[in-house]
Amino acid sequence: MMMSGGGPTPLPVVAVRTPAGEERLMPPRLWFPAAAMAASLVLAATAGLTLGVIAALEAGVPRDQWSATVQAHGELQLWGWFAVFIVVLLFEFIVRLNGRPPVPLTSRVLVLSLLGGGAIASATGRFIDVAGQVMVVAGAASMVAGALLLVAIVLRIRPARPLRVDLHPLFFRTGAVWLVAAALAELVASRNLSSGATSFDESHLMAEFFLRGFVINVTIAVALRAFVGHLGLPPVPVERQRVLWGLVNVGLVVSAVGSTGFGLPGFPALAAAGDLLFAAGLFWATWALDIARAVRSWRRRPHRAQVLVPVAWFALVVYAVTLSVQAVLVLTGGVPVTLHETGATRHMLALGFVAPLLIAMSHVVLQRFLIGRVVGENWLTGAFVLLIIAWPFRVFPPLVDDSIGEVTRGLMGAAGILTAVALLVAAAVAALNAVAARRYVRSLRRLHGSAI
Ligand code: HEM
Repeated sequence: MMMSGGGPTPLPVVAVRTPAGEERLMPPRLWFPAAAMAASLVLAATAGLTLGVIAALEAGVPRDQWSATVQAHGELQLWGWFAVFIVVLLFEFIVRLNGRPPVPLTSRVLVLSLLGGGAIASATGRFIDVAGQVMVVAGAASMVAGALLLVAIVLRIRPARPLRVDLHPLFFRTGAVWLVAAALAELVASRNLSSGATSFDESHLMAEFFLRGFVINVTIAVALRAFVGHLGLPPVPVERQRVLWGLVNVGLVVSAVGSTGFGLPGFPALAAAGDLLFAAGLFWATWALDIARAVRSWRRRPHRAQVLVPVAWFALVVYAVTLSVQAVLVLTGGVPVTLHETGATRHMLALGFVAPLLIAMSHVVLQRFLIGRVVGENWLTGAFVLLIIAWPFRVFPPLVDDSIGEVTRGLMGAAGILTAVALLVAAAVAALNAVAARRYVRSLRRLHGSAI
């Protein structure tokens, strides 16, 4: 019981069955998150980025397959890598932050297989003549099923504290709902393919639902609680959390309503106003979370995540500035923003911010949620550094070179190769940690002879 306003307030008590012995110290299949992280990184590094490099160089595929190549690349990166990796982390964080038992392994495997398997089926189908259309639709349907199952799981996890004092569960829920919206957009867009590709208006709207809706909401959900513990940042008052939720989600809805595709007429000024709201949400998040405090802590022997997370966050600020400038150009009737420019901005978010953040957070996840230390930690940090070197080469050349000349294409291709190396290194580290976790559990079993 807690005393507030003169009377006692009951605190929610979480009842969890705790097994005896060492079993209670670890979730079942301790190695599973690291193995799933490794698998998604390998898929991105090999298939997803090979297609990305081919698309960047505009070589290696017939001209009429360029759009299909780009969209297969986007799908493998978003659904095969980000969706799988982020949902793995979501399963780990959401139960710990709310004091609940682990999500059953079967449910986790099912969600991840539906999301990742859907991406592989859909991306492959784009290059197949006869059965291709069916595979793309089946792949998208599999993503819808995976996203719906995720929503059901997220909704079943009761928040430890009421939403009126802590909005982080709402960010998890909203993120999961945006994932369903992105999957539905993918499914509807796949209704009529032309040379393996759907309309770019529709595939881009899907990508924005995914990145701005799913990824950003889940990132904020984790940041609101985990940054306090792992980066030593102050808790964000609930009023500021509400403003953040409103700016990010209303901004995305407004910008989607102003877009073209899915029969929408397209109001560029409305879409730009939505982009400005969304960018304001990101500035607000940077201020409310007090990322600057993490930077100030660099003077006092910080641990690695305290350095890496703010470095990744820097790209989010660069992204918010670029998005705002492009929106103002549209609102003032300036130069229209081209496909390659919006693409570069989208990659600032995906490659500049999300990808390094995932590797930065892997330092925390592999250490805290597996065996208490990261095997090959320096290699993981090396992968992070490679990503930080790579992203400017992918995003700035197309912003300054309208004609997308040979040099620009070469720089983007080089960034793709560097990114692939980074992801393979991170995958190897994750796999090593999965093996170490398996060995650790086995040695405990041998020591105690209990069913762990
Ligand atoms: C250095 C690495 C990368 C290279 C060289 C690359 C290259 C490309 C190229 C050339 C395009 C088409 C033009 C454009 O939209 O700008 C593209 C589109 C796209 N990329 Fe990447 N990319 C990379 C990394 C990533 C990452 C990390 C993600 C997300 C996880 C991603 C997701 C997308 C998406 C969603 C699209 C739009 C697909 C569509 O139009 O339907 N890319 N990429």
